[in-house]
Amino acid sequence: MANQPTLLVTGASGHLGRRAAEILLETKAGKVIAGTRDPSKIGDLAAKGAELRKVDFDDPALSDAFKGVDRLLLISTDALDTPGKRLRQHKAAIEAAKKAGVKHIVYTSMPKPEPGSPIPFAPDHYGTEQALAESGIGWTVLRNSWYQENLFHSLPQVLASGKWFSAAGDGKVAHVSREDAAYAAAAALATQPNGNARYDITGSELLTTKEIAKLAAEATGKPIEVVSVTDEQLTQGMIAAGLPAFLAPVFASFDTNTRKGNIAIASSAVRELTGRTPRSLQQFFSANKEALSHAH
Ligand SMILES: NC(=O)c1ccc[n+]([C@@H]2O[C@H](COP(=O)([O-])OP(=O)(O)OC[C@H]3O[C@@H](n4cnc5c(N)ncnc54)[C@H](OP(=O)(O)O)[C@@H]3O)[C@@H](O)[C@H]2O)c1
Repeated sequence: MANQPTLLVTGASGHLGRRAAEILLETKAGKVIAGTRDPSKIGDLAAKGAELRKVDFDDPALSDAFKGVDRLLLISTDALDTPGKRLRQHKAAIEAAKKAGVKHIVYTSMPKPEPGSPIPFAPDHYGTEQALAESGIGWTVLRNSWYQENLFHSLPQVLASGKWFSAAGDGKVAHVSREDAAYAAAAALATQPNGNARYDITGSELLTTKEIAKLAAEATGKPIEVVSVTDEQLTQGMIAAGLPAFLAPVFASFDTNTRKGNIAIASSAVRELTGRTPRSLQQFFSANKEALSHAH
């Protein structure tokens, strides 16, 4: 094992980080360090052979946690409550990695985060990509499409009412399963990098909202009518349905983004990186039809 790289996964108690760390342990990709704000949550990963370290991007002594690490999987945080906070966290992580001598960083970004994106949190990802490019550290950027699992938030309500209010028009998206994204992240970290690289991590099938609705209706046996609304109507409808006023425009921006064609990307990167056939949305719906049919 002397030549094996030391790999650290941040956010190892989150959905994506935990799976990426587990896959790295299963595939014996190197010495695996699982980093998280609260190591007590991931004792099971220690039992599987991971070293646990406390990793908090808000910690001024963060570089100590990255000592001896060759390659880092930097998982974007969920700090969306305070504008600018997430980018500050990611920049702090890159700085700390540089100080600790980390040679390569794999980062989980989003599709088309460039200026002009209607998604309010796109600048966090774009800024992090820029900071990586300027860091002097090697990088792999994984622009993860929207997870299939995000549909757990909206579809139960859609199926209960039979109506899907959408401002996405005929825009298309190729949702990726979080499991495929975890395999892609693990593979990108495990492979000896050959320079810098950027991948779009997506499902294989581009679908409109109407096509997604049709698949969901077929899987659950419940009819869905897609009702076209404007961005403003969508935002107001979500507020009326109880969504906090600051969150409604964020959710509505996903439809704007889709309508503009910003997420109409289907790449073969999951297959190239992992050898896996990406899980289709149809498979996702048929595997989860019970959970999707019951509003949480
Ligand atoms: N593509 C999509 O559709 C989509 C959907 C949702 C989220 N995301 C993004 O992808 C990331 C991973 O997704 P997920 O499903 O695993 O999210 P999740 O389960 O909500 O996990 C949130 C992650 O943020 C990390 N985090 C929060 N504060 C941190 C801090 N101060 N320092 C270091 N890490 C911190 C957590 O790490 P610990 O708790 O272990 O410290 C955890 O890994 C999310 O954080 C978000 O940026 C993408």
